[in-house]
Amino acid sequence: MRRYSVLERLLFPSARLDEDRLAKAIRRKTILITGASSGIGEQIALLLGQFPVHLVLVARREDKLLVIKRQIESNKKAQVTVVAADLRRDNEMEALLGTLREECNKPDIVVSNAGLSIRRSIYDSLDRYHDYARTMSINYLAPVKLLLSVIPGLERRQGQVINVSTINTSLIPLPSWAAYQASKSAFDTWFRSAAPELNAAGIFTTTIYLPLVRTPMIEPTAAYRKMPAMSPEHVARIIAKSMYTKRRTWNPWWLFLGQVASILFRGLWERRMPRKLSKRRDKHGDA
Ligand SMILES: NC(=O)c1ccc[n+]([C@@H]2O[C@H](COP(=O)([O-])OP(=O)(O)OC[C@H]3O[C@@H](n4cnc5c(N)ncnc54)[C@H](OP(=O)(O)O)[C@@H]3O)[C@@H](O)[C@H]2O)c1
Repeated sequence: MRRYSVLERLLFPSARLDEDRLAKAIRRKTILITGASSGIGEQIALLLGQFPVHLVLVARREDKLLVIKRQIESNKKAQVTVVAADLRRDNEMEALLGTLREECNKPDIVVSNAGLSIRRSIYDSLDRYHDYARTMSINYLAPVKLLLSVIPGLERRQGQVINVSTINTSLIPLPSWAAYQASKSAFDTWFRSAAPELNAAGIFTTTIYLPLVRTPMIEPTAAYRKMPAMSPEHVARIIAKSMYTKRRTWNPWWLFLGQVASILFRGLWERRMPRKLSKRRDKHGDA
């Protein structure tokens, strides 16, 4: 695991995991993790795989999932079921739901983590409506469809849903991130709206609002290479911790400062940002 800089240690204080409490909370449970083939999902799988649980790992890249399965099962503690599925495709989602019904008849805990981010300006997106369709499809519609199907079982087992979200859902939306931010906000709103009903039925709901995390998702964005970012191992510990604390939300301690600034400086931001972008267009000779 990469060592944090001084600034990162300040921004992302370590999360102490009580392994006994975690072991008790998840013992013999079936935990479904979407997007388990890399980044945060992979690290949650490897962490939980040290306990006697049944993990159902979902993503498109079966080869990656099988490597993770082999690594976990070599400890002889956890059992792993791999389901290779593109969750945007109805038939592959149905196959996953069928597997959950017939083979697992569960899960007890769902970690809704699979996601796709796209950074592209509106002017580079004019012929790319499909960017909006695919981010909505994986970041919003897929988790809605999955949850609608597993809610009755979660209610019977008093289970938990953990939504891996982003701090951007409660901050000023950034240019070039329209597709990603709109789709993450859509699911955040859906989940917050559904949560009281789910909680009333005995299902625990948790949303993890993450800042930048050093995973393959942010690799294409050069500007992020030098910015402070959490490690996926750290995020995995926070998610695992929520399985015994059952906390409703987790966010970095400084998020409230960003939220206050988003309200106070919205007008200023909306006046300044077009000027800044206009200068950038002139400099790069854009149309
Ligand atoms: N990294 C960050 O800075 C950051 C910040 C805030 C929130 N998040 C959220 O954290 C979550 C995990 O992202 P990450 O950073 O760990 O990125 P990542 O390493 O790119 O992981 C994304 C995961 O989603 C899976 N996935 C993508 N499209 C899929 C599809 N159509 N069907 C099934 N699985 C699919 C990918 O697997 P396959 O490619 O094998 O399908 C992969 O396992 C996402 O929801 C993201 O929005 C990330």
